[in-house]
Amino acid sequence: MCGIFGYVGRRVDAGSLAIDGLKSLEYRGYDSWGVACKTGNTLTIQKETGKISAVDPADFGTACSIAIGHTRWATHGGVTKENAHPHLNETSTIAVVHNGIVENYEELKEDLKRKGHTFRSDTDSEILPHLIEEELKTRDANTEKSESVSGDFTAAVRRACLRLSGRYAFLALHTESQTLVAAREGSPLIIGVDTDGYFIASDIPAFLAHTRTVQYLDDGEMIATDGKTILFLDIRTGHEVRKREIEISWSVKQTQKGEYRHFMLKEIMDQKDSIARAINQDEEEIRTIAQAIKHAQGTFLVGCGTAGKACVAAEYFFSVLAGHHVNYAPASEFKLFHHFLKPESLLIVVTQSGETADVLEAMKIAKAKGSKVLSIVNVQGSTVARESDYTLLINAGPERAVASTKALTGQMAVLLLIAYALADKLQEGKLLLLETSEMINDMLNPRYVEHLEALADTIKRHENLYIIGKSWNYPMALESAIKIQEVSYIHAEGFAGGELKHGPIALIEKGTPCIVLTGKDEVTADILSNARELSARGAFIIGVSPERKEVFDEWIKVPDAGAAQAIVNIIPIQILAYFLAVKRGKDPDMPRNLAKSVTVK
Ligand code: G6P
Repeated sequence: MCGIFGYVGRRVDAGSLAIDGLKSLEYRGYDSWGVACKTGNTLTIQKETGKISAVDPADFGTACSIAIGHTRWATHGGVTKENAHPHLNETSTIAVVHNGIVENYEELKEDLKRKGHTFRSDTDSEILPHLIEEELKTRDANTEKSESVSGDFTAAVRRACLRLSGRYAFLALHTESQTLVAAREGSPLIIGVDTDGYFIASDIPAFLAHTRTVQYLDDGEMIATDGKTILFLDIRTGHEVRKREIEISWSVKQTQKGEYRHFMLKEIMDQKDSIARAINQDEEEIRTIAQAIKHAQGTFLVGCGTAGKACVAAEYFFSVLAGHHVNYAPASEFKLFHHFLKPESLLIVVTQSGETADVLEAMKIAKAKGSKVLSIVNVQGSTVARESDYTLLINAGPERAVASTKALTGQMAVLLLIAYALADKLQEGKLLLLETSEMINDMLNPRYVEHLEALADTIKRHENLYIIGKSWNYPMALESAIKIQEVSYIHAEGFAGGELKHGPIALIEKGTPCIVLTGKDEVTADILSNARELSARGAFIIGVSPERKEVFDEWIKVPDAGAAQAIVNIIPIQILAYFLAVKRGKDPDMPRNLAKSVTVK
């Protein structure tokens, strides 16, 4: 949800660095972009609507060693050039890029207007440079007087932060200072430490080509850096905070498309080995976590979107394999269940990015009750990963496409492993998942992909599509619907097979494509019977199954993976969704209205 980037240091191509960095953050927002470069005491601002991918970094060749930039996902105010960041203060001496929402912006704006400030955009973000400007004016009345403009600027930013409520991460520049100042409360900001200077960005891929050494900014903290040194401060007290440097294991290659046209297809194909990486966990740790679940007084699962579907699948894994009851709620609904949390309860948080606002909120609620938090996360060092009592990394590598694919199967693999550990059958679970990983590797061959491409051609003109499943294939029906909706814009809905005759079956017409997800288990007969009910009403039945069944008009063969069937079955649907998008002329990596990392509530 909005990507921000900043550089200060010895390099003189900060403008081009900003454009390149923002391109790798484009999955966080792509309706408009902007960059501010400072040369001498002059700020050059360039901003436009549209995608930054089309911009040539070479056009930002003006020698400049300090720059900030932004790629936007609109929250307050439409997609216009005026609303694009950076925003400036009254005298155009301060530039700010911001991610998040300033909840008290109306009140602050009114106050600033009374003091003579005028505003050019409809955004909440624009109040930030004005507020900093106002705080700079009051420095004389303040005890935080400094010898330098930079010191005054940093202190003014800090005082401005104290007046904000809501979630934010922002970067600020001043024409009179060579210091880049950044602050964080609720939205991610990571520092990349290079020999030549410092990068500051919403996510690591933005500077991974330059450095793998990072420092994390936590909520309620800010930094001031001139490119040679960096100062971390506690926003509330103004005291210095000590930070460690951490080496990141991701490589640049992992963040690139390579031979693929889109990240979505590349990431689907990454599942040839990402599941094996996900289950490569410390066995003792998995057993400890299983014990924590066993002894917890109430285990709750939360996630959003695709990660939420992994949670629903886990409800089945825990129940069917270990006879253990866990409760799932979408993270955005979790606060309504806070009465059931005790210090002895456990919250399991599932998230790719580790930065989703609703997930962070759920964690906060659990922590306030003294409950323990286990997180299953992809992004190493993310807020969720750092703030949990136990963290399991799924090691899927960077996921860039908005539609989550390999993160989902990694999350489900880890959850399935825990369910097996809970049933005291960890080795059995590990073996099953290793075999499943090999079977997926075999399945993802060019012929298989071509078959799904051809199927996408057959059904691409339909505007409605339904998916059914039972047991752990039910959450996969829900996930299939999300995947198809978000990239192809076909109206797709997933149902539990048994629910059909209670309403949804009224939607079926002659030729309506209906996908049936099944395995070879005790619920297969039931779901096939539901498929026949659809077929009898004229539906075109696409069966995803280890075996061909007579009710299928089209069969997508999948390996028989037993309890890991859900992991296997979702993969052909991811490929189908990808080709439906491409064949309908949509960009699967950047679906309209969506962002990869939802850092606002
Ligand atoms: C957004 C993304 C989804 C993702 C969800 C949760 O909606 O588009 O792909 O599943 O956020 O994100 P998280 O990073 O918490 O898994």
